[in-house]
Amino acid sequence: MRRVAILGATGSIGTQTIDVIHRLNRAGYGFEIVALGAGRNVALLAEQIVAVRPRAVCVAEESGRAELASRFPDLEIGVGEEGLVSLARRDGIDLVVNALVGAVGLRPTLAALEQGRTVALANKESLVIGGELVAAALNEHGGKIIPIDSEHSALLQALSAGKREEVRRLIITASGGPFLRTPIERLERVRPEDALRHPNWSMGARITIDSATMVNKAFEVIEAHYLFGIPYDRIEPIIHPSSVIHSLVEYRDGSVIAQLAPPDMRIPIQYALVYPDRPDTDLPRLDLTSAGALSFEPLDPARYPAFATVLAAARRGGTAPAVVNAADEVLVGRFLAGEIPFTGIARGLSAALAAWRGEGPPSLEAIRDADRWARRFASEISF
Ligand SMILES: NC(=O)c1ccc[n+]([C@@H]2O[C@H](COP(=O)([O-])OP(=O)(O)OC[C@H]3O[C@@H](n4cnc5c(N)ncnc54)[C@H](OP(=O)(O)O)[C@@H]3O)[C@@H](O)[C@H]2O)c1
Repeated sequence: MRRVAILGATGSIGTQTIDVIHRLNRAGYGFEIVALGAGRNVALLAEQIVAVRPRAVCVAEESGRAELASRFPDLEIGVGEEGLVSLARRDGIDLVVNALVGAVGLRPTLAALEQGRTVALANKESLVIGGELVAAALNEHGGKIIPIDSEHSALLQALSAGKREEVRRLIITASGGPFLRTPIERLERVRPEDALRHPNWSMGARITIDSATMVNKAFEVIEAHYLFGIPYDRIEPIIHPSSVIHSLVEYRDGSVIAQLAPPDMRIPIQYALVYPDRPDTDLPRLDLTSAGALSFEPLDPARYPAFATVLAAARRGGTAPAVVNAADEVLVGRFLAGEIPFTGIARGLSAALAAWRGEGPPSLEAIRDADRWARRFASEISF
């Protein structure tokens, strides 16, 4: 029996994780979902409570707690970030799936690692804003992170083909998003509904917009840096529009090892849950004859200026990544609300990074201050 807490249970990764766990149990695994953490979608969480029967849950707001308490009087119900942290720390949990979106995911990741637990990590922001803290917690308490992100799952698999010192570079594939072929001068006027139409993946709103700006790809470079201990100058993005190859590792003898799979997040989610097993749970299979030509092209910095800004923040280190993460969260929200143009996201990120004066090591407190500063900056900036 493996007891699991799923944080972000009501999201795209969270709901797919529940689906995968049902499949794994039908295949003979003994997973028990003992805790579910969610945000504001209390209606979906209530459905999940009925279906999964967890012992404890958590919601973002007090009103959600009160609503659930009247329906499920015997259930333990937490609220807010503290509620998420206590689910991650709860006794008797073997695996924490962190499928939260945004900076709110960091403290639960740290809390789980401080218990020496394994975290199946989709919440890339944990590593983007708190990479140093996560590395320290791993060092000190002996926990483990297994990535859920498809690119990092691919890298983990490809890295098993050689020794770490034999790696020349990590190559992270990017579909290019919905605007790969849009004339650059038209990007100013693209609408939220166009940006939300990802060519290959169905995901949450923020990561879909981040895929269109390539902020997501820069986050993935940071994530790979912390997960696998490879310096930034040996991690490269490459545009691969069909998203069949999820990432590659080049070794120093010239061999390049790739991982291919259909674009279905349940495959890397399953790999993270039962790593290193590969059970058959009837997930979609890749038909190579209909995959078409596998093409690649370099990432065009003029089309995706936010990529370089986020990487500049990563190289600057300290709290700079927390600044671009928080600014991006706000700017994406403002773009989706029709307040700023699509190109305003990249311009706002660059302005936030240029204006940020914070120095020093990224403690939790410093990260929170940087996050707060960047949110204010990004909500006030006009174009
Ligand atoms: N979706 C993908 O295919 C994919 C692929 C690779 C990596 N990722 C990464 O996985 C993470 C999750 O992405 P997603 O696409 O699943 O996002 P999503 O669909 O937007 O779901 C996010 C989840 O986080 C919860 N949440 C948000 N803010 C919260 C808060 N303040 N307190 C508590 N819960 C909160 C949401 O709850 P409510 O909905 O109840 O408010 C929801 O359960 C992100 O870091 C993303 O970059 C996603």
